[in-house]
Amino acid sequence: MGADFQGWVAANQARFEEVLRGLLPKADIAPQRLHEAMRYAVLDGGKRVRPLLAFAAGELAGAEQARVDVAAAAVELIHAYSLVHDDMPCMDDDVLRRGKPTCHVQYDEATALLVGDALQTLAFQLLAEHRLNGHARFPHTRDTLLAKPADCGSGCEAAIPAPDAPQRRVMASHPNPLPQAGEGENESLREFLANDDAARQLEMVRLLALASGSRGMAGGQAIDLASVGKALTLPELEFMHIHKTGALIRAAILLGAHCGSASAEQLDRLDRFGKLIGLAFQVVDDVLDCEADTATLGKTAGKDADNDKPTYVSLLGIQGARDMAQRLHREALETLAGFGMAAQRLRELADFIVLRKF
Ligand code: IPE
Ligand code: IPE
Ligand code: MG
Ligand code: MG
Ligand code: MG
Repeated sequence: MGADFQGWVAANQARFEEVLRGLLPKADIAPQRLHEAMRYAVLDGGKRVRPLLAFAAGELAGAEQARVDVAAAAVELIHAYSLVHDDMPCMDDDVLRRGKPTCHVQYDEATALLVGDALQTLAFQLLAEHRLNGHARFPHTRDTLLAKPADCGSGCEAAIPAPDAPQRRVMASHPNPLPQAGEGENESLREFLANDDAARQLEMVRLLALASGSRGMAGGQAIDLASVGKALTLPELEFMHIHKTGALIRAAILLGAHCGSASAEQLDRLDRFGKLIGLAFQVVDDVLDCEADTATLGKTAGKDADNDKPTYVSLLGIQGARDMAQRLHREALETLAGFGMAAQRLRELADFIVLRKF
C-alpha cells in the first residue's frame, strides 16, 4: 500500500473523528452518563473501514465530502452500536474493544444496552435531518446542509465513467440474501429514485435500515448466537457472515455512492463489490482471531475458539480461510474493472481489508 493511500486514510480518519465529535451529543448535556458512554463507544478508536469505503465510493460518484461525512457517520454509529452489544455478556462476553475496556465494563450493562439503542436511532436521525444528495449551487458549510429545502434542480451530471457490460458471477455457494440494489423495483421506480433527491435520501434510510435489521447485521448476529457449538456448512457460514458483517459494509459503499451521482448499473456493480469485500472482511476477522495477539487486535484474541463459534478457520483451517479471502478479494477487484482509476481508492481499501494485521 503506497504512501499516497496511507496519507489519504490518515487525513480522512482525522477529519472524520472531528465529524463524529461534532455529531454526537455533548457529554455535559443530560443524560450526561449516557452521552459520555456513547462518546466512549464511538470516539478514539477503530479503523473506520466503513466510513473509508463510503468516502471512496463518494469520490467515485463525485459526491460532496460534507454529505458523505454524514452518511458515513450514520453507518459508523450503527457499527459502533453493534460492537457494544456484541461484547455484552449475553453475546460474546468480551472485556476489551479498541484497546479499551468494553462499554458495559467501563459503565454497566444497562448503559451499554442504551448506548446501542441511542447510537442506532442517532444514525437514522442524521440521515433524516441532513441534506445528503443533489446539486449544491453554492459553497456551503456543514450547517447549511441541515434540513434546508432543495437548492437545486434534479439530475446531476454522471461523474463516473460508464462501466463495462454488467457481470453477474455467482459468488461462492449461496444466493444473495439481501436484495441487490434495485431488486424488486421496476424501471420507473429506479428512474424516480435516481432523479428525485428526496426519494434518493429516503432510499438511503431504507438501505441502512435493511442492512442493520433482521435481514442484515442483527439477523446475522442472531444466527451467530444460534450457531454456538454447531458445525455449519459452508453456505450456512457464508449466509451468517454476509449478514452480520457484510450487510453494513455493502450499505456503507452504497450510501457513499448515493451522495453523488451513480447510475443504477454502477450501483449494482458497487453493491456486488461490497458484498464480496464485506464477506472477505469477516473471513479475515476469523483468521486474525486465531493468528493475531490481543495487543495488536485491541480485542481479545482466540475468542471464537473459546466461545465455540463456527468460523471460516474452524471449517476450512487457517490456510483454507486465507485462500477464501484471496479468492473473494480477486473477485471483488474484478467487479471494479469498468470504473478505471475512479475506483482506485476502493481497490486500495480492498487490499487493506485482506492484508490487514488488525
Ligand atoms: C469488527 O469490525 C467487527 C466485525 C464486524 C468483524 P472492525 O474490525 O471494523 O472494528 P473496528 O471498527 O476497527 O474497531
Ligand atoms: C461481530 O463479529 C460482528 C458484529 C456485527 C459486531 P465478531 O463477534 O467476530 O466481531 P469481533 O471479533 O468481536 O470484533
Ligand atoms: Mg460476535
Ligand atoms: Mg465478538
Ligand atoms: Mg471476530
